[in-house]
Amino acid sequence: MKPSFYITTPIFYVNGAPHIGHAYTSIAADVIARFKRLDGFDVLFLTGTDEHGQKVEAAARAAGLEPQEFTDRISSQFRQMADALEISYDDFIRTTEDRHKRACTALWRKLEAAGQIYLGHYDGFYAQRDEAFYDESDLTTGADGIKRAPSGAPVEWVREPSYFFKLSAFAEPLLALYEQNPDFIQPLGAKREVTSFVRSGLRDLSISRTSFSWGVPVPDAPDHVMYVWIDALTNYLTGAGYPGEAPRWPADIHLVGKEITRFHAVYWPAMLMAAGQPLPRRVFGHGWWTVEGEKMSKSLNNALAVEPLIAQFGLDALRFFLLREMPFGNDGDFSRKSLISRLNVELANDLGNLAQRTLSFIAKNAGGQVPAGGALSPADEAILAQATALPDQLRAAIDRLALHEALEDIWKLIRAGNGYIDHLAPWTLKKTDPARMLTVLAVLLDLLRTVAILLQPFMPGSMAKMLDQLGIPPDARDFAALGTPMITGAPLPPPAGVFPRYVEPDACA
Ligand code: MSP
Repeated sequence: MKPSFYITTPIFYVNGAPHIGHAYTSIAADVIARFKRLDGFDVLFLTGTDEHGQKVEAAARAAGLEPQEFTDRISSQFRQMADALEISYDDFIRTTEDRHKRACTALWRKLEAAGQIYLGHYDGFYAQRDEAFYDESDLTTGADGIKRAPSGAPVEWVREPSYFFKLSAFAEPLLALYEQNPDFIQPLGAKREVTSFVRSGLRDLSISRTSFSWGVPVPDAPDHVMYVWIDALTNYLTGAGYPGEAPRWPADIHLVGKEITRFHAVYWPAMLMAAGQPLPRRVFGHGWWTVEGEKMSKSLNNALAVEPLIAQFGLDALRFFLLREMPFGNDGDFSRKSLISRLNVELANDLGNLAQRTLSFIAKNAGGQVPAGGALSPADEAILAQATALPDQLRAAIDRLALHEALEDIWKLIRAGNGYIDHLAPWTLKKTDPARMLTVLAVLLDLLRTVAILLQPFMPGSMAKMLDQLGIPPDARDFAALGTPMITGAPLPPPAGVFPRYVEPDACA
């Protein structure tokens, strides 16, 4: 039986249109999911939309729509974006679905039965924009007299009856969890921040609201709806089939943006412990993108949609850029200039040319078929050994979620391949030693196959094209096929470039 692997993205709020920031999380999770599938895992990859809460209700009203109609509309935009990005999700969850309401109700009842919920009333400062409460000490008061949260969101004083979850009892168990499972929260900066937050003590968490109704009703308390974060976090259980017979829980990785790591690494495991459920294995908080040096914001109106970028540069150049440009876990800046440079240098030049040079040379000088190689020289053996070592290097990098390192490892081999072809010069061997020329070409083909198979998770469409050109049948493209001999004599289709250089439209004029 295949080992199983369950990965999730955050579910996205439907109060605004999707943009490149949301795309980033989804692409990263997609690369990991595809990598694991090609490596023989039975993968469950969950994404979706977070559709309840006061903020969504308010956005729907502002758009003059009923919340359900509004969320239907925006949720489908998120799904369209995922499809445009070729995100290979197995399930797209919407928190307005019945299966999810069932899961929330079941979890709530479990917590209640375990004595972890009580009715009280809440007074405090609430920021609707963040869907979060703040301590007075966290707030600043502006010249306008308005109190604001550290995020800049205005807060208001709220007092209402509320159910509470006994979060305060979980500080010690959480600290023990972080200590016994050093990889539970990553990267290290996030772990330190969360640990010190928990060390400073936890207060019970208000988990229901009576001031609006767009949410999952609390069982037997119809005036209350569940706090949107409780509802949202539960999506990961719903996606696993909870409360059915054999849910595919726990998740191996919750991939999230750094601003919501705390919800996933504190509230969520505490609730799961309280309900007697297994805990996710890892929460990874990645960094944030700015666009051309600016934070993306509604007021600047600079949130980048993905479709125009795909139309202009191609999907795989965009996927590649986002994962290559900044170390996974850091913050970075999205600029058109860097995207174009990576596309032209690394995709068109380094990889595209290596493939194109090799394949067109084979088409012209080796009968357009997979050449039979002869005895290997030390140079051949050295580069083939580098290729053979690559899958394990990538497994290690992907397991650490060092996606940028995985790409760098692949590019080291590509650069070595370019050095090899320049140095061994098959065009010269053609005249001096045609048998040796065939061996060099066979080595290059093998190398390209390794590169193309291993790059599939990052650039699925282009690598499918490249593998077609290398004559690799669809059933020989997973990682288990690496290292099997190429079929000599197999005909190769006429070569065609996979990554055309990008030339600015102005430059043509
Ligand atoms: N609905 C909650 C998550 C609930 S998960 C149980 C939420 N949604 S969100 O739509 O506001 O943001 C979701 C995610 O989008 C962030 O965690 C982050 O992964 C991603 N990003 C949004 N803007 C981003 C950038 N500018 N840069 C990188 N990622 C960003 O929070």
